[in-house]
Amino acid sequence: MSQTNESWGSRIGLILAMAGNAVGLGNFLRFPVQAVQNGGGAFIIPYLVCFLLMGIPLLFIEWSSGRFGGKFGNHSTPYILDSMVKGRVLKYIGVFGIFTNIAVVSYYAYIESWTMSYVYHSLTGTFSGMSQSEVAGFFDSYIDIAHSTTGIPYEAVLFYILCLTINVYILSKGLKGVEKVAKIGMPLLILFGIILAARGYTLGTSGASETFPDANAWDGLNFLWTPQYSSLLDLKVWMAAAGQIFFTLSVGMGTIHCYAAYLKSKDDVALNAVSAGFMNEFVEVVLGSAIVIPIAAGYLGLDWVLNNAGFGMAFQTMPYLFQQWGPFLAAMAGFMWFGLLFFAGITSSLAMGTPWMGFMRDEFGWSSNKGAWTFGALALIMGLPTVFFYQQGVFDEYDYWAGTVSLVVFAMMETILFSWIFGMKKGWKEITDGADIVVPRIYKFIIKFITPVMLIVVFLGSVFAPKDNDWSGNFKSLFSGDGWALSNASIIKTISQSGLKEQLAVATDPMVIESLNDKMFYINMARIMLMGLFIFISLLVYLAFNKRRKEGRATL
Ligand code: PHE
Repeated sequence: MSQTNESWGSRIGLILAMAGNAVGLGNFLRFPVQAVQNGGGAFIIPYLVCFLLMGIPLLFIEWSSGRFGGKFGNHSTPYILDSMVKGRVLKYIGVFGIFTNIAVVSYYAYIESWTMSYVYHSLTGTFSGMSQSEVAGFFDSYIDIAHSTTGIPYEAVLFYILCLTINVYILSKGLKGVEKVAKIGMPLLILFGIILAARGYTLGTSGASETFPDANAWDGLNFLWTPQYSSLLDLKVWMAAAGQIFFTLSVGMGTIHCYAAYLKSKDDVALNAVSAGFMNEFVEVVLGSAIVIPIAAGYLGLDWVLNNAGFGMAFQTMPYLFQQWGPFLAAMAGFMWFGLLFFAGITSSLAMGTPWMGFMRDEFGWSSNKGAWTFGALALIMGLPTVFFYQQGVFDEYDYWAGTVSLVVFAMMETILFSWIFGMKKGWKEITDGADIVVPRIYKFIIKFITPVMLIVVFLGSVFAPKDNDWSGNFKSLFSGDGWALSNASIIKTISQSGLKEQLAVATDPMVIESLNDKMFYINMARIMLMGLFIFISLLVYLAFNKRRKEGRATL
């Protein structure tokens, strides 16, 4: 085994890299949309509760597990978990911590590549003089690879490959490269974010037009920040809040374990975990909510935002709104907005490369170079279908299984392992050893009881999500013997593609039928790709295990 003695250069570098890992596209693209779709102020309380009761505990668990595994020379979840709890199958639970990263980066880097292209188009003035629908149409054409009319042939594919290449190049420089990008990218991102958020806060009614006379940026902010207590009983909002917390903090992925495995054994984890977590929340809640929503509300009105909330807003609407500030400021705003998204994205996609690289180095002695290029190749193979068949739903399918379900499944399993099998006594020692803060003791209780129960509830809630989101109605019907009606969005019904099948059953137009059949085909293909990747990594873990056994290093 080639033991690595790589570790972080400085504490600030580590914190910025960890914050960069967490701060990502999720903070600026996913958060505002989730918040709007789940009732604005109705979303915030469940969101904060999930942060305190699941987010922070998972950060503690993952940071301390990572540091623990690192002491034994393990830098990815299969063997990090193995060093904590002996058991032959546990390594295979750790497969998630490599699988999810490769599957997520393959579509994540696609969005990241849009931001690069949009920086280019903002600076070269592509959007100037375009109407709102033309700017939106530009995006539609961009992702329609075969018929794209954006000026550069196969533009989306080229930028995607360029984006992956940049990631690979930085990763090939090892941790130093990652740390350097975080040190440059994070401060710039925060600076750009503050400038744009200042616009969001000061726009007021000045953007109102004849078409949208009532537009007011403050409506957007008030909508997000006026708490609504009624949502506390709506499980759907809780699910969405939990999902957002996982995604934005990068927990349940295996990236945090990997970064933390490069800590020195006496380094603090408690304060570091909390600092990186709070930095992410600052960027998400303060900056992420102050750009798209208020600016869009300021020009187009809150009703427009509510009807159009989606992740296209960032690409389809923002470049048009920036044009209202004159050509020069529009170019600058576009540069800052898409530049900010790019830095947010790249510091996260780099993180997703490290578990694979760490694993291949620990087990097979691979260099950073070899690790980085193979990571790029895997991401490319997995990612090209999302690029070419974006509209057929491959992207969404990846996001559902790898970016949503896997996180919950892995977070649930690792929490149970940590607090119940590794044991909270040892666990608490790992969290508090070397700590630069006093961790409130209540967290010992939370991590042992509350977090696992919440995770199990979230998991079961997604598996059995009820029809029409009617939890209380379905519980009543269940107890009165009338059974439980599943929603098409539940995991069970998603597996069988019932939503599509229902549409197909009532469709009469041959074009619609064809497109639905097409969709099903591509969704199945996406699933085969994901499953193939999971099996491939499991196989590598198996080979690594055999190798360790032959060398007399296996533990079981
Ligand atoms: N937290 C990142 C975001 O908000 C996404 C991410 C997930 C990054 C997992 C790394 C690992 O966009």
